[in-house]
Amino acid sequence: MAKSTRNCVRLTVILYVYAAAVTATVLPSDQIYDTSKYGILQLGNGLAQTPQMGWNSWNFFRCGIHETVIRETADALVTTGLAKLGYVYVNIDDCWSELVRNSEGDMVPDSKAFPSGIKALADYVHSKGLKIGIYSDAGLYTCQVRPGSLKHENDDATLFASWGIDYLKYDNCFNLGIDPKERYPLMRDALNATGRTIFYSLCEWGLDDPALWASKIGNSWRTTKDIKDTWESMTAIADINDKWAAYAGPGGWNDPDMLEVGNGGMTNQEYRSHFSIWALMKAPLIIGCDVRNMTAETYEILTNEEVISVNQDPLGVQGRKVYTYGPDGCYQIWAGPLSGERTVFVLWNRCSEAATITAKWDTMGLESSTNASHEYVSLCSTNSFSAKVEAHASEMFVLALAAAAASAA
Ligand SMILES: *[C@@H]1O[C@H](CO)[C@@H](O)[C@H](O)[C@H]1NC(C)=O
Ligand SMILES: *[C@@H]1O[C@H](CO)[C@@H](O)[C@H](O)[C@H]1NC(C)=O
Ligand SMILES: *[C@@H]1O[C@H](CO)[C@@H](O)[C@H](O)[C@H]1NC(C)=O
Repeated sequence: MAKSTRNCVRLTVILYVYAAAVTATVLPSDQIYDTSKYGILQLGNGLAQTPQMGWNSWNFFRCGIHETVIRETADALVTTGLAKLGYVYVNIDDCWSELVRNSEGDMVPDSKAFPSGIKALADYVHSKGLKIGIYSDAGLYTCQVRPGSLKHENDDATLFASWGIDYLKYDNCFNLGIDPKERYPLMRDALNATGRTIFYSLCEWGLDDPALWASKIGNSWRTTKDIKDTWESMTAIADINDKWAAYAGPGGWNDPDMLEVGNGGMTNQEYRSHFSIWALMKAPLIIGCDVRNMTAETYEILTNEEVISVNQDPLGVQGRKVYTYGPDGCYQIWAGPLSGERTVFVLWNRCSEAATITAKWDTMGLESSTNASHEYVSLCSTNSFSAKVEAHASEMFVLALAAAAASAA
């Protein structure tokens, strides 16, 4: 099961603890892993108990979508095994609709790109055991100037539900300057009123700090502007999303935008880091490449089960940047608690040269007693761990206390 990709490996390091000195404990959560906002005010539609996983058309196809691409993507998610790993949402982004509503005021699927309509497509996607998502905008128009849903919330939600839609990404263009705290709840209520359980993904770009208010409105909320397929964009977005870690939890997640893995603008090392950090941050794992045509490297990154299991861990606490050092702080330790008294950490080398990076237990919320040097044997003879990490790469590890690991086994 363990895929030994070089940078997304999970290594379970069992810490043997002598009976008389079982003192490795997690520090009070407010010291490192502040979870004081965890689980408050969640939307309450029962979804998003773990971060959503799936695919979205935008990052690769932009407006070049049509029903064949969507159907073939659904097929590919199944045949590649991605669906089985949890990637179940097939999300259509902007450009699916005609430029204007019909005479009844309804949105209409683009007749050239989606001649069979969205309902037929939804039926097809459902027949594959997958779920289907669509896109609209909390404004007059979408970003590509299709009709938006502002002031049409109930009609549009009803239409989406009648098609069998399972997920709505709701964008922020042409918003007339109206407060998002007014605009986004309208669609929440409209979706709820349909009686169909629909995942509500807010795409407000982080402008009004949605982590502070969105958990009672959506199942996830974008914390940043759009990702670009570059190392600079990906790292900058990771850092912004990190600030809101205390606000994520089952029911509502911070969303640093969709994955660029496989789109060609970063190296495979950088994509491994992108995927590992997104997983650790409990970000939605929404694939943004053409899954009908992935390289072996892209496939290996996206299907790393250990990394996915970190993302989908039931504890649902967002991992975060806990320690940086080295030139411009580019040796980074990102870490977070997992269920079963485990801790995940990533050694992330954001420098342009390979380096040995050391994670010390105390910087990750693991305390050791005065007996620390006697507590750990095996791989960890001290209370830290070091590994060589290539430039822009990362290495992910999971630590488990011996007692917890034994009782889980
Ligand atoms: C509507 O909202 C209520 C209150 O949060 C919730 O219990 C119910 O499950 C929601 N229904 C749907 C279809 O989302
Ligand atoms: C598949 O991807 C490669 C690049 O990885 C590209 O050159 C090729 O054109 C793609 N094929 C199709 C059918 O899209
Ligand atoms: C340190 O460990 C030894 C045995 O390994 C034990 O006898 C002693 O009490 C421990 N000291 C503390 C402070 O836990």
